[in-house]
Amino acid sequence: MVAVAILAAGRGTRMKSDLPKVLHPLGGRSLAERVLHSISDIEVSRCFAIVGYQAEKVKQALQHFPNLEFIEQKEQLGTGHAVQQILPYLQGFEGDLLVLNGDVPLLRGDTLKTLLATHKSQGNAATILTAQLLNPKGYGRVFCDGNNQLKEIVEDRDCTAAQKQNRRINAGVYCFHWPDLAEFLPKLQADNEQQEYYLTDAVKTLKPAMAVDVEDPEEIMGINNRKQLAEAYSILQDRVKDAWMEAGVTLIDPDSITIDDTVALEPDVQIEPQTHLRGHTVVRSGSRLGPGSFVENSKLGKNVVVSYSVVTDSQVADNARIGPYAHLRGQVQVGCNCRVGNFVEMKKAAIGDDTNVAHLSYIGDATVGEQVNVGAGTITANYDGVAKHHTQIGDRSKTGSNSVLVAPVTIGEDVTIAAGSVITDDVDNDTLAIARSRQVNKPGWRRQDPSPNT
Ligand code: UD1
Ligand code: CA
Repeated sequence: MVAVAILAAGRGTRMKSDLPKVLHPLGGRSLAERVLHSISDIEVSRCFAIVGYQAEKVKQALQHFPNLEFIEQKEQLGTGHAVQQILPYLQGFEGDLLVLNGDVPLLRGDTLKTLLATHKSQGNAATILTAQLLNPKGYGRVFCDGNNQLKEIVEDRDCTAAQKQNRRINAGVYCFHWPDLAEFLPKLQADNEQQEYYLTDAVKTLKPAMAVDVEDPEEIMGINNRKQLAEAYSILQDRVKDAWMEAGVTLIDPDSITIDDTVALEPDVQIEPQTHLRGHTVVRSGSRLGPGSFVENSKLGKNVVVSYSVVTDSQVADNARIGPYAHLRGQVQVGCNCRVGNFVEMKKAAIGDDTNVAHLSYIGDATVGEQVNVGAGTITANYDGVAKHHTQIGDRSKTGSNSVLVAPVTIGEDVTIAAGSVITDDVDNDTLAIARSRQVNKPGWRRQDPSPNT
């Protein structure tokens, strides 16, 4: 039986942020969410998050993980002190406790499985994950005998100059036989430079304790500052983009593209330079996104084209063309075969199949039918200064260039709106609506020449 504890109570002083470190986002998920995802394939009996700094905020951000139990560490007196808080919750527990620092976001599930398997097969009291780093600065150094049996872990700040030369570091990922750890935890001392209770002191006391090196040292990167956050992002991006190319997605100039790993793509999607896909975006096959586009939390159908455009929280059906220079924001639904672009903004609006909004329009709070042509410069005037109002346009209608539809207003089916109209009243089916003053032509009219005396 395995229980898990995620240490997420620290402030993360080195981030210099109001946001608790473990809530900093990394490619669509917070650091803590990533750590929790790394255990998703492991069968665990209980899962704890130790929270402290801005505990309420952290709890709220992690409440969507079912069965996650929160334990509050009121004062943050070190990683050992954090694990001490679990004692009342695991009384009589005979299994193992997997402890993960909340700031190690790139861990792979398989690595944790290997750690657990080694721990079990060797009958260890403690097994820790280690890595050999070219630049071990900042990490605790791990000293072992020839058989990977642990002798000591010394924090970077407590190391002598000679100890600092050791490149084997503590990843902050531990597996403990709980009864052994539980017996030792109350005896922890805070006799170090920081006067903190170090979990690492427990590791070196328990016997047998063993270190297991990770294959890929990038996995165990701990995030303490913004520079490391950026480095982790770049490692994550390489992983995500390699995986999509492997799965049949074309990336043109991958270095200029970013993709959250919460995004889902189908084979034969093509992503052009300077394009960024965020959140829970799904793109079906044959679509071409970019260049120069941003798509967030949106669903794009098959063979959709998005160029130089921003699409957020929206849905675009098959064969639609978005852009160049369109902005779809907030619950926009675009039907099949539509064209939206050339300086068009849409918000909370649905347009039916085969409808075009092709030039210089604002369509907000509107429902537009099928085969509608929204003429260049058509505006839905949805806001009266106090509240937003709805515009409806029926199937096969056409709005002339520069028409203003003053909401709330309903335009029927097969309606034509004359160019330059300001429509304030509803228009029935099969009607031509003209709402502008007539042009007056004055034949023979000439400007009077100014008199020579003035
Ligand atoms: C820790 C390890 C170090 C290791 C490194 C790996 C200790 C003493 N040192 O150092 O050997 O190389 O991680 O990344 O454990 N936390 C709490 N409560 C506290 C203090 C910390 O929950 O009272 C949490 C933090 O939120 C964080 C994690 O524990 O998620 C690690 O704390 P941090 O201060 O980053 O430890 P490091 O100095 O990086
Ligand atoms: Ca750390």
